[in-house]
Amino acid sequence: MEFFLDTADVDEIREIASWGILDGVTTNPSLIKKSGRDFKQVVAEIASICDGPISAEVTAMDTDGMVAQALELKSELPDNVIIKIPCVPEGLAATRILTDKGIKTNVTLIFSAAQALMAAKAGATYVSPFIGRIDDTGHDGMTLIAEIMDTWNNYDISTKVLAASIRHPTHVLQCIQLGAHTATMPAKIFRQLMKHPLTDKGIEGFMKDWAEVEAAGKA
Ligand code: G3P
Repeated sequence: MEFFLDTADVDEIREIASWGILDGVTTNPSLIKKSGRDFKQVVAEIASICDGPISAEVTAMDTDGMVAQALELKSELPDNVIIKIPCVPEGLAATRILTDKGIKTNVTLIFSAAQALMAAKAGATYVSPFIGRIDDTGHDGMTLIAEIMDTWNNYDISTKVLAASIRHPTHVLQCIQLGAHTATMPAKIFRQLMKHPLTDKGIEGFMKDWAEVEAAGKA
């Protein structure tokens, strides 16, 4: 399973990349705003930190505009930048055009299995269903991931399912069990996934005993 960071904060990306398990990064206009940085500059820096796919989102709402923005981003930014496109009819058309040109895409803001399948038919490299935002409405976001994975199991689909809008470690574990190909999550969740009180307690005990071994001159 691929683990992506959902942030435009380069310090966080450097921190998690240093663990040796970071497969990619997703950004969106809100995360770019939060970074306070120039869009293309920050995406270029992210792409220099992480070799994996870096999603940069188009903001045009018409197909020609989306394609033009995508081509500009691909011409100015490193090769590992891929194009994030909203799941609307104009976005499907743009995805098909970009796919036919060999450009990788991540179709985002997906809230139904039907939308995911449509994006896959348009040739999307990734589809991004948003779990947390469904939970926020009082429904179960994980059901969407289950429905999409069931759909994928019925057909020969090469598009990867990228679980997004992840709010807690249990979301990630459930995605793993359902076979989602990728999860994108904030740095906080990477840290939570690695944290276990028994690991900390075990290290504390080992270090205390080792200090005594050293003090006895037996190290
Ligand atoms: O990058 C898209 C997605 O992960 C957004 O998450 O927390 O804003 O719903 P969130």
